[in-house]
Amino acid sequence: MKDIFKAIEQSAIEIKELIETGDTGKSENQNSTGDTQLKLDIQSDVIIEKLFSNIACVKAIVSEEQEDIISLNKDGKYLIAYDPLDGSSLIDVNLSVGSIFGIYENDFTGPNLVASVYVVFGPRVEMVIATDDVRLYRLIHGKFEFMHTIVLNEKGNLKAPGSTQNCWSAHHKTMVDDIFKDGYRLRYSGGMVPDLHQILIKGGGLFSYPETSDRPKGKLRQLFEVFPFAFVYEKAGGGAIDGYKRLLEVETTHIHDTSACFFGSNNEIQRVLKVYKEHA
Ligand code: AHG
Ligand code: MN
Ligand code: MN
Repeated sequence: MKDIFKAIEQSAIEIKELIETGDTGKSENQNSTGDTQLKLDIQSDVIIEKLFSNIACVKAIVSEEQEDIISLNKDGKYLIAYDPLDGSSLIDVNLSVGSIFGIYENDFTGPNLVASVYVVFGPRVEMVIATDDVRLYRLIHGKFEFMHTIVLNEKGNLKAPGSTQNCWSAHHKTMVDDIFKDGYRLRYSGGMVPDLHQILIKGGGLFSYPETSDRPKGKLRQLFEVFPFAFVYEKAGGGAIDGYKRLLEVETTHIHDTSACFFGSNNEIQRVLKVYKEHA
């Protein structure tokens, strides 16, 4: 798996350059989820696919930006699902963005996720690798240096309330209002990677992107957004659910499936479960 981590480091260096100098304009195409692709989405995807295609242990890949599974090495051990540039629409306003990678064995399903990695392109470029633990690396003079492991507190004080608020269910709205009445601080940029990274680094809280009337199955994609972060949050000592059960137990029927998702410290995850179970 080390070859994969090295390739991700290299992709981060190349995508950093692309973000700094690339054209943030729209392409003519849409991806499988119907999002209009930015030129940077496609160029980041090309960088990552090229790097992964040189690694013998990679059997196949799935990209947010491509319709189908891409087979690489029939004897490879790992399957990688990735979002080459998450939050790309934030680049033109100079907010932080990221890349997300889920490393699977046997098939692209939650229970078969064996590691996850994400890269944050912000004032500093950082990479987080989750295997048995969660380790933070920072790009310094062209090299990723290990900084420290990441562990969530049992309870935090940050709340990232995603999705269109006028499409929230009544019980979701009441729950979020109550969380803010308890003194939580609102932290939401619209970029999943920096929004979830912030809660991890600051020790805890709750990020939610729930089922809504306009998106009954949520917006965020299982294989390369939701499951990789669910793995990170659980390995950091927190939790990740769809409102009712662990996200890593949610069934995948299509490689671009989405899921409602909540990521947070254990106290906040229990709070969501209680509210959602009462309204199931
Ligand atoms: P992507 O840029 O890969 O399509 O992902 C964007 C996602 C995610 O970064 C973020 O949490 C979510 O879109 C924000 O959605 P809303 O704009 O609906 O809040
Ligand atoms: Mn994304
Ligand atoms: Mn993306």
